[in-house]
Amino acid sequence: MGFSNFIFSVLFRFHIFNVNIKMSSHKRPELQAPPEIFYNENEAQKYTTNSRMMEIQAKMTERALELLNLPEDSSCFILDVGCGSGLSGETITEMGHCWIGFDISTAMLNVAVEREVEGDIINADAGEGLFFKPGTFDGVISISAIQWLCYSNVKSHNPPKRLYNFFSTLYSAMRQGSRAVFQLYPENPSQLELITTQATRAGFSGGVIIDYPNSTKAKKIFLCLFCGVPTPEMPSALGTGDASNTQIHYNQQRISYKQMKGKSVKKSKDWITAKKERLKRQGKQVKPNTKYTGRKRRSKF
Ligand SMILES: C[S@@+](CC[C@H](N)C(=O)[O-])C[C@H]1O[C@@H](n2cnc3c(N)ncnc32)[C@H](O)[C@@H]1O
Repeated sequence: MGFSNFIFSVLFRFHIFNVNIKMSSHKRPELQAPPEIFYNENEAQKYTTNSRMMEIQAKMTERALELLNLPEDSSCFILDVGCGSGLSGETITEMGHCWIGFDISTAMLNVAVEREVEGDIINADAGEGLFFKPGTFDGVISISAIQWLCYSNVKSHNPPKRLYNFFSTLYSAMRQGSRAVFQLYPENPSQLELITTQATRAGFSGGVIIDYPNSTKAKKIFLCLFCGVPTPEMPSALGTGDASNTQIHYNQQRISYKQMKGKSVKKSKDWITAKKERLKRQGKQVKPNTKYTGRKRRSKF
């Protein structure tokens, strides 16, 4: 897909933030098959044999746990959404916490059983909503799973509805004041907007943190949601010396992506300035802005 270096602004209840999503050339798993089919025995085996994949899962889980901001000296009860083979769960255990995980793929859960993970695991679909008692969890993490809810695999699947089912039941299953951190791979800006919109509708506040925003390989997107906290203070992103990337501006006016449609953000003065800033951070030479920067040009014809 010819989708590269897409810059966009998502404005939700509290924050404006700029996210740069770069598509890789290979076909996304979400476009190949539904998760319960894609994560079959073959794919699940990779989670026990591919050391790079295991390392990445562990690192992203460590970061998600750090963003949960749990109390240092006590063991907490964590939910792992899309827990898969239990690699993420093993990291939760290593950090001294107890956990429950659920996943739609039985093949992935079988690997977790083989691994003899310490958490309890359940076969369930996030889009159907959760079934836990109110206030059960001290924190929630999810690694590379939530974007799957943006795809409709059968006629009856309605992604906005499934996302809302998920977030609203998740909200009630969480302790007031706790956090949910989702590492995710949105396919495009509107997917991220859809996810944040449904999370906001369900009562969450929060925002997005982008670690290593200037690195194609290391860049990771985390959606950090707060349960029952009106004015969240966003944690800082890693791998950037630039305050504009770590400090997310407060904005009370929620503007939907639909409203933004029609106005091309690309080539506007803000777009050009943001691009120049990014190139500067990459050590490239850029021309300084002038009064002509981003001005509309008259057609030559
Ligand atoms: C990249 S894997 C995550 C692996 C996991 N963190 C681990 O340690 O193995 C993404 C997982 O999300 C799960 N998933 C995708 N859609 C789901 C849904 N609707 N409900 C529950 N799990 C889902 C997939 O089955 C898959 O196991």
